[in-house]
Amino acid sequence: MSAQVYIFRIQRNMPGQVGAVQSHWQEYSVEAEPNTTILTLLEVIKGQQDGSLTFRQSCRSAICGSCAISISGRTRLACKTHVGAVAKDGVVEIAPQKNQPILRDLAIDIRPFFARVHGIKPYLQEGPEKAGKVTSTAYDQVNHVTQCIMCACCYSECTMAEVNPAYIGPAALAKAFRFVSDPREGKKTERLQALSEPNGIWSCTRCTMCVDVCPKEVAPMEAIVKLRTRGLGKGYGDSAAAKHALAFHEDIVKTGQLNEFTLMMRTLGILGSMKETAMALHLAKKGKIPSPFPHSIQGVEELRKIYASLERTPVDVETKAKQAVPE
Ligand code: SF4
Ligand code: FES
Repeated sequence: MSAQVYIFRIQRNMPGQVGAVQSHWQEYSVEAEPNTTILTLLEVIKGQQDGSLTFRQSCRSAICGSCAISISGRTRLACKTHVGAVAKDGVVEIAPQKNQPILRDLAIDIRPFFARVHGIKPYLQEGPEKAGKVTSTAYDQVNHVTQCIMCACCYSECTMAEVNPAYIGPAALAKAFRFVSDPREGKKTERLQALSEPNGIWSCTRCTMCVDVCPKEVAPMEAIVKLRTRGLGKGYGDSAAAKHALAFHEDIVKTGQLNEFTLMMRTLGILGSMKETAMALHLAKKGKIPSPFPHSIQGVEELRKIYASLERTPVDVETKAKQAVPE
């Protein structure tokens, strides 16, 4: 591999008055081989060109999570990312993580992220549901989730966190799954109840961004889906999102037709639906509202086959090993 010149277009952020941040873009050029990491090149820029450039790093081994920044539009670990893999026409765009307060340049304030993690009580609790024995199956359930290094890449790319800062977020929910699944946890049901509240497991839109960007293959969305299944199993299906999912299921199984009008009523209730009237009218004006009349669901026979197969041979959501798609 031969060295070439790369342009680093870096977002510089300076704390301004009353918490505002002033931003501008600054370009640096560095010569490097394509397999050089972004972190190494940020160090070269800081050491040889501009000592004022601020960023975080520690382990250089994809273990501590501190170097997570936005690189060419995606949040990644700078110490794990090769410049040749992300440069577009020789240019690499670098910015701080999204959805988090910026302190300076590429350094974000990570405290709100950790406050979310602390909010799910990330420790085992004494209680009536505590089981004595930890089996290898129980270990399999949480093994991949415990790989999390708290880099916050998932939170930075989370589409729900972008519009709803109160959302607990993928990393904290994956952590919650680890405790709900641990046989030594004594308050599993209490946890599921709390996680089923607004801004919890039912706020996830399943955009899969957290799965795509996680450098440790934690797959937080997978954990969220499992928490939903367990929550429904315990009868915590009161949220609008849970009712929406159940109403869809009912339509597919019973009629094979989608009835948008009753779907809204079953999801939000009469009062809730009335509150959405203004939004519905707005969407109708823009031609974006689906037909309010019952209409057939495309591919419904395939869906029914999947449901029937699941009823014959239920997929165990508890372990990754058994997550085969039904025939
Ligand atoms: Fe980082 Fe993955 Fe943990 Fe999210 S789940 S904080 S992306 S390691
Ligand atoms: Fe620790 Fe990159 S420096 S993960």
